[in-house]
Amino acid sequence: MVRVRASLSQLPSYVPGRKLPGAIILASNESPYGLLPGVAGTLAEAAGGVSRYPDLDATDLIEALAARHGIDPERIAVGAGSSEVCGQLLHTVVGPGDEVVFGWRSFEAYPILTAVAGGTAVRVPLRDHTLDLDAMAAAITPRTRLVFVCNPNNPTSTAVGERELLDFADRVPRDVLIVVDEAYREYADPALVPDALALLGDRPNVVVLRTFSKAYGLAGLRVGYCVAEPDLASHVRKTQVPFSVSALAQRAAVVALGEAAEVARRAARTITERDRVTQRLRALGHDVPDSQSNFVWLPLADASGDFAVHCLGGRVVVRPFLGEGIRVTLGLPEENDALLALAATWIG
Ligand SMILES: Cc1ncc(COP(=O)(O)O)c(C=O)c1O
Repeated sequence: MVRVRASLSQLPSYVPGRKLPGAIILASNESPYGLLPGVAGTLAEAAGGVSRYPDLDATDLIEALAARHGIDPERIAVGAGSSEVCGQLLHTVVGPGDEVVFGWRSFEAYPILTAVAGGTAVRVPLRDHTLDLDAMAAAITPRTRLVFVCNPNNPTSTAVGERELLDFADRVPRDVLIVVDEAYREYADPALVPDALALLGDRPNVVVLRTFSKAYGLAGLRVGYCVAEPDLASHVRKTQVPFSVSALAQRAAVVALGEAAEVARRAARTITERDRVTQRLRALGHDVPDSQSNFVWLPLADASGDFAVHCLGGRVVVRPFLGEGIRVTLGLPEENDALLALAATWIG
């Protein structure tokens, strides 16, 4: 019998949002607006090249990202989605038995990737659906090597502010890596939610994680990146699966970066919908926290499963977290209307 690592037997599998043909899918925090205008043509052009390996170093993409952020290209490491980059960061600093601290509930890949890296997950309960940075700082021990700060937090949509994040970073020992995961940055109000790169980018123990999967509409192509101190970034690059970011993905990401105005316009539409959906759900009696993301959180606790089934009956797929709540990704206005109509007919 082949011996599987004991740590894997306890490990839950990643649960993706369901894909139901013909249904309205509000389950995976994707952009509802499809490809950015320039991206489709680029993909068609680049498709003929896929008999060749991509550029291992993702040179054009890294240069475009460096120019976008006004930083040295040596500070950037890419991966197949920010999920892979999370794994790369863990493999860079976490060894067997080392602890990895994060809020819970948060992005569900954190405990999985932590266990895969051989680390021990330390889950710190949220307070008011929000990361409890005081409790997270208090959870750090001499075994802690990495802390994930998901800001805004998936799936609860809330965010921590500048003062809290700064105080937290001051409390974390210098040899513990703080990973600020900003997958939903483009949907956050810059007056309320700090840009961790601007705020903490000069600290050697802070890494900022971003993705092309959400506001840039490239979830299916798998591109994410982190910005770190150059020496650390060079190690993170070593842990990438070679060639994991395809040539199509690299090319599309460069083009998408050039369409910043359209990205912002689409994000603004999502934010308008977010405010409308939040108000309506609150009017229906739901205790919806203020969202800084492209999704809203309904803390339905034990009724979460029933609500998801009710929505499925109306061909709307949402993402339940059983016993906790429902995450609803904001879609097109008519898709959100379908969700609201179902919410109005639900008897909890
Ligand atoms: C907080 C957070 N980080 C990272 C990711 C990973 O996204 P991707 O691997 O598509 O870049 C997600 C995806 O849902 C997320 O919610």
